[in-house]
Amino acid sequence: MIPRLTEVPLLSKAKIAASDFDRLYKLSHTTTETAGELRYPITGNVSFSNINFAYPNRPDVPIFQNLSFDLRAGECVAIVGPSGSGKSTIAALLQRLYEPSDGVILFDKHRLGSTDIRWLREHVAVVSQSANLFDASVTENIAYGSSVGIEEIQRAARAANIHDFIMSLPEGYETRLGENASLISGGQAQRLQIARALVRRSNILILDEATSALDVDNAKAILDTIVKIKEVSLSRFHCEMEVRADISPAQRCSSPTR
Ligand SMILES: Nc1ncnc2c1ncn2[C@@H]1O[C@H](COP(=O)(O)OP(=O)(O)OP(=O)(O)O)[C@@H](O)[C@H]1O
Ligand SMILES: [Mg+2]
Repeated sequence: MIPRLTEVPLLSKAKIAASDFDRLYKLSHTTTETAGELRYPITGNVSFSNINFAYPNRPDVPIFQNLSFDLRAGECVAIVGPSGSGKSTIAALLQRLYEPSDGVILFDKHRLGSTDIRWLREHVAVVSQSANLFDASVTENIAYGSSVGIEEIQRAARAANIHDFIMSLPEGYETRLGENASLISGGQAQRLQIARALVRRSNILILDEATSALDVDNAKAILDTIVKIKEVSLSRFHCEMEVRADISPAQRCSSPTR
């Protein structure tokens, strides 16, 4: 199929996002890249201090120069900027998909670079712009490596408004998403990711245009759910970051501070 011109930016963005996800999924726990042993309570205090960064494949194109900001536990922060300004890159750095070339990212007083990567992934949940589903069952896609039971998975799926759809798939929660990818719309894929975020013991939730593929009603329902979960479960989502190219949906944050 020949893409229409208007789809080209979306396609290339999807390609980059897919390669980022692939990078995250395949990151070994033993390479020097993932070195870092510290397991400490991730409270939600995050600090970027004089960060310089360029993607390794384009070292001559600086994305950030001396970027500094602080996020405090309990805050809901919206990062707003035009396309290509680096919003998703902040999310990628927070997941340690890439290391800054200079400067330091701190979670409380701990360097992100010395954090155990598995620990980090358990405590930072991301709902991103792209589908980010892999060739495994719905259950495995939602659990994404964490050892949660089917009840918790179904509770998260209900909260993300996707349970009924999963039940309508050929094998329900055991349906493999790879071979059934054509059955999943962009919005449904995004809700599966939201279920993945809700099921984890994450204290930091990053929503990178998390509802961009949803219609207005579904986007509102999902954001209401996230806000509700944040309010009732004080031990979770200590810090929430919503990354949007426009400002209006960000205003849904209960207390946007930037
Ligand atoms: N994996 C990558 N390799 C090389 N360059 C990249 C990569 N990902 C992003 N970039 C570049 O980094 C810059 C910032 O991209 P980023 O995806 O962070 O922007 P964004 O603010 O999230 O944009 P959008 O609103 O379109 O999602 C862009 O110029 C982009 O082309
Ligand atoms: Mg982006």
